[in-house]
Amino acid sequence: MDLRIPLSDLDYGPEEENAALDVIRSRWLTMGSVTQELERAFSDFVGVKHALAVSNGTQALHLACLALGIGPGDEVIVPSLTFVATANAVLYTNAEVRFADIIGSFDLNVSPDDIERQITPRTKAIVVVHYGGYPCRMSEIMKIARRHHLAVIEDAAHAPGAFLEGRALGTWGDVGCFSFFSNKNLATGEGGMLVTNREEIAEKARVLRSHGMTTLTWDRHRGHAYTYDVVALGYNYRIDEIRSALGLVQLQKLPENNARRKHLTDLYRKGLRDVRFSGIEVPFGDVEGDPAYHILPILLPEGVERQPFMDSMRKSGIQTSIHYPPIHHFSYYRQRYPGISLPITESIASREVTLPLYPMMTDADVDCVLTAAAGALAIARSSESSRSAA
Ligand SMILES: Cc1ncc(COP(=O)(O)O)c(C=O)c1O
Repeated sequence: MDLRIPLSDLDYGPEEENAALDVIRSRWLTMGSVTQELERAFSDFVGVKHALAVSNGTQALHLACLALGIGPGDEVIVPSLTFVATANAVLYTNAEVRFADIIGSFDLNVSPDDIERQITPRTKAIVVVHYGGYPCRMSEIMKIARRHHLAVIEDAAHAPGAFLEGRALGTWGDVGCFSFFSNKNLATGEGGMLVTNREEIAEKARVLRSHGMTTLTWDRHRGHAYTYDVVALGYNYRIDEIRSALGLVQLQKLPENNARRKHLTDLYRKGLRDVRFSGIEVPFGDVEGDPAYHILPILLPEGVERQPFMDSMRKSGIQTSIHYPPIHHFSYYRQRYPGISLPITESIASREVTLPLYPMMTDADVDCVLTAAAGALAIARSSESSRSAA
């Protein structure tokens, strides 16, 4: 069936097409001057000393862990209500994760109290995720980190252009990691960025991004170097110039597009206050700072089944999604970490549905989603009552 309203959509036009064409015509495709320009523009935008472009957000997270010296014998505290990449990146280093619970239905971010409970003598770092681009409680988390001498990595995949107390998300901790995946606020297909104010972290990440080599093909092309040494076991986590060019255009559009996301989020919130939606909760009502409004999560009333709701939305041509199946419930993680219980994460995750949100959506599209959601909720409630009557 054709989708009338997808979950997310690109804001791509002639500017992106021309930017890609310019790179193709320049005849230099891999990491070079356009990537350097993107790194400069992104570091200026978020207000940080170093920005390193990579091929995806997962690589940024992996490099962040490696640059902080995380490895075998270490534990890293992560939320479970996030994309699996957040935890995977830690496991790539042969460290272990410890999952922390979230705050509650009004704030789906990791709980500072639970972070503190999960600290052991092996804990080396905390990874926070700004869920939906809504800021975690960074002041509290940074205090805990300082008290226990822990590093902080911010998974800011959802949060480009978000600020808290005037400071960009991604720049509160030791390292910030962004994703430029197709559905993100700044989209290049695949792509990502690591940001840090710490010189030695930037230097380690830079070397590891390109096989541990001391010079780049780009340096040699320009005659700045003729050979190289390999000083560490690195990776090929380089980005290419086409995607960097797309990123530069998308970065220019980001503030306006985030503002549009805010407008649409406000419309949704207003509409969802209607009696037709009684029992539905919309997290992040009391926002702190300036979020990036990446997604629009709602929580279905307790006891209402999610599948009939999502099926009915699909029949109306509207795509919905789930953010997220908790990581500790996945088979691999259940085998590796049996018996983990995160009561708030589990109860919230089972009720969560994500509604469409993207800058190109019209106000009328929001109305259309809400009308479909009211019908879908009525259907889901009736399947709930026929279940309880049986
Ligand atoms: C919260 C979160 N962390 C990490 C990632 C990984 O980013 P990427 O897909 O660019 O590797 C994503 C991407 O979906 C994400 O949503």
